[in-house]
Amino acid sequence: MNNFQFYNPARIIFGKDTEKDVASYVKKYGKKVLLHYGGGSIKQSGLYDVIIQNLHDNQVDFVELGGVVPNPVLSKVEEGIDVCRKENVDFILAVGGGSVIDTAKAFAIGVKSNLNVWDYYYDNSNVIVDALNIGCVLTIAAAGSESSPASVITDESSQLKRYVNSEHIIPKFAILNPELTSTLPPYQTACGASDILAHLFERYFSPTEHVDLTDRLLEAAISTILKFAPIAYNEPNNYEARAEIMWCGTVAHNNILSTGRQTDWASHNIEHEISGIYDLAHGAGLSIIFPAWMKYVYKEQINKFVQLARRVFNIKDDSLNKELVVNTLIIKIENWYKSINLPIRLSEIDIDDQNFELMSKKALDGRESLGALKKLNSSDVFKIYELAL
Ligand code: NZQ
Ligand code: ZN
Repeated sequence: MNNFQFYNPARIIFGKDTEKDVASYVKKYGKKVLLHYGGGSIKQSGLYDVIIQNLHDNQVDFVELGGVVPNPVLSKVEEGIDVCRKENVDFILAVGGGSVIDTAKAFAIGVKSNLNVWDYYYDNSNVIVDALNIGCVLTIAAAGSESSPASVITDESSQLKRYVNSEHIIPKFAILNPELTSTLPPYQTACGASDILAHLFERYFSPTEHVDLTDRLLEAAISTILKFAPIAYNEPNNYEARAEIMWCGTVAHNNILSTGRQTDWASHNIEHEISGIYDLAHGAGLSIIFPAWMKYVYKEQINKFVQLARRVFNIKDDSLNKELVVNTLIIKIENWYKSINLPIRLSEIDIDDQNFELMSKKALDGRESLGALKKLNSSDVFKIYELAL
């Protein structure tokens, strides 16, 4: 196990009706609040009215900015920074999914900085030293942004999708009511589950040895997603399934499961080129890239793949050699994605190889390699895109 520090200040407020008390948390941090949301789902579900009512009832002074699109874009970030400055906003309440929360994080960075906000995303050597406080009401279990130190934004002019990481942008609080996710279209439920599973895989497939506790915690979380995502997909109002998935999504990405181990993230970087160019849901990109990445890298650490196969996927047949165990594992993972109607090949969603060369260069983004389990150069990434076709 490696040395580590773990710090996550996000207060998690979990359960039914918790959003009805949002103003009491907001008032701890802000006097002038920006209420920030996406394309309209919170208005359709009635959540918007609940929040507005609670802010009014508690005399919270706020302004609003909606209109975030999935795979959120830089132009919206610039608009939000202007609003925050003009209105002297000192706290941002993000109500929505990863795209809304990530945009709020970008406002929070931009307002406190003299640099152009994109400079932080484009060049991670620019260190974030301060940010406005933010809090959130989560409406989709997926990205884990509700308690992660990350934000992912796309510059639509260059189609570059890039991230920042800073403890300054971890939300102060995250309200998680699983009932709020019952209005999700099945496709978004599936994409969210795929992202959560990917966050667990990125941590599980680590070159670090002697991390048995986190291996087993990860296996428990992986089993939970495998079991409950198909239930929520088929029964949107199943509270217990929604609750398991929502808490799993937070635990999968608040970094407790990264403690003491190297993590991989090659698949995320490889996927971001797809959703950055083709505006595909991140989770649908991951259901395509992860099996391809596994096929390409498993020989580097075959025992870890076999461990997952035996402990979580119940592949116990002693007559199978390790190669066959891993092949069976990857087929089972692909079948699980298919069971919730996610794509597992680029060709299924009409993406061909025309941008592979460009994407495999952009994925490296000036770095020598991607990933930890196997260090991938751009020709490796190209081959993974080919395996994903
Ligand atoms: O915009 P609205 O109308 O709210 O609709 C959204 C959106 O169309 C809809 N939705 C959300 N909650 C709903 C709902 N519809 C009905 N009922 C509800 N309760 O779902 C759609 C997708 O929302 P989005 O916020 O885009 O989803 P997600 O949470 O998956 O976020 C994806 C973004 O997060 C980034 C991804 O790359 C992508 O840009 N990520 C952020 C991370 C982080 N900050 O730590 C890590 C992740 O790996 C990921 O990269
Ligand atoms: Zn992700």
